[in-house]
Amino acid sequence: MSVTIGTPLQSSAYKVLLLGSGELGKEVVISLQRLGVEVHAADRYDHAPAMQVAHYSYTLNMADADELKQLIQQIQPHLIIPEIEAIATEVLVEIEEQNIATVIPSAKAVNLTMNREGIRRLAAEELGLPTSAYRFADSLESFRAACDDVGYPNFVKPVMSSSGKGQSRVTSFDEVDAAWEYAQTGGRVNQGTVIVESQIDFDFEITLLTVRAKNPVTGEIETSYCDPIGHRQDSGDYVESWQPQPMTPAALEESKRIAHKVTTALGGCGIFGVELFVKGDKVWFSEVSPRPHDTGLVTLASQFQSEFELHARAILGLPVNTARHSVAASAVIYAGVDGSNLSFSGLNLALADGNTDLRLFGKPEGFKRRRMGVATARAETIEQARELALQASNQVSVNQN
Ligand SMILES: Nc1ncnc2c1ncn2[C@@H]1O[C@H](COP(=O)(O)OP(=O)(O)OP(=O)(O)O)[C@@H](O)[C@H]1O
Ligand SMILES: [Mg+2]
Repeated sequence: MSVTIGTPLQSSAYKVLLLGSGELGKEVVISLQRLGVEVHAADRYDHAPAMQVAHYSYTLNMADADELKQLIQQIQPHLIIPEIEAIATEVLVEIEEQNIATVIPSAKAVNLTMNREGIRRLAAEELGLPTSAYRFADSLESFRAACDDVGYPNFVKPVMSSSGKGQSRVTSFDEVDAAWEYAQTGGRVNQGTVIVESQIDFDFEITLLTVRAKNPVTGEIETSYCDPIGHRQDSGDYVESWQPQPMTPAALEESKRIAHKVTTALGGCGIFGVELFVKGDKVWFSEVSPRPHDTGLVTLASQFQSEFELHARAILGLPVNTARHSVAASAVIYAGVDGSNLSFSGLNLALADGNTDLRLFGKPEGFKRRRMGVATARAETIEQARELALQASNQVSVNQN
């Protein structure tokens, strides 16, 4: 089977619609542009990062089924890439069933992973993968019981939320009611339902980027893995990542087994960010994103094909190579201030060492904890790479105009 791509802006164009146009989407778009794909980018606000590098852009409420359907009808894309979770996913199921477009990686994957309950039940109950102990609760009363059942300390998360929103760590029964209140403010939709998870006492956590792509000769989908990425989280948000994360051969094997099982169940082609907790040889499944992962920004510096290029290739039916060429690290650049029309200074100093690099996402608005950019660095050792990436990120200051 031969893969063919047409010419953008002409009738032969191979069209991709990106739903959600953040910084990860921006890098995916750049990779698709390099392969001559016609890219349409959508988000709920104007001038989102990926819109700035796409052929066409659209501002709409993607959680509204009618608005979303109309957009898809208008564009008639070959592929639809959901880049965020707040989407009317029932529309994607319909689109896939009627063969109108291919949903990346699959409507099932997007549906199950947008809700912590869906993916947790699949992983733990259907696939039998090791996870933290957990309960779901949809009222204060059932929440109190769930916390007591799971024990302390535990982690509370709205089932429909990401990036740490509404999340807290509860250390005793005294904190239970406050955690419930806080969770109610952080959920996306379906306010109320939360998951309570027992705390896993891990040595470190990793993202195992896992790619499902077609073998160029046989056409069969094969699974390949990037080297494990270590990361440090602060309030449920990633602040630093590095690759490779050293681990025992047994833990690496087990990580791949878990990643293989969960990504095979989700199906389709593309990259997945499988989040795992590791202690010695033991590994627990935490969660999975059916798309590039924020901690994987480090692959821009460490791999021949970054996670974004891997994703672009896999979804187009092209072969992938997950090999790493360098030890590298990434460090997030936060706005630190609220406001729009921000400017970034100190870039010359951040890039003074030839092994560092920067991405500034071009977000039209910032707030204190908003990720505005990332610094990456290559070095001989992980420690040196982390140090260099942090230094570079600290050199960048964000100013109001
Ligand atoms: N059961 C647990 N035991 C120990 N640590 C946990 C547990 N659950 C979450 N954490 C910590 O909190 C972080 C964020 O949790 P999780 O990945 O579930 O939330 P998230 O909102 O999806 O975050 P993100 O979108 O950044 O991945 C984890 O990476 C881990 O550091
Ligand atoms: Mg996570």
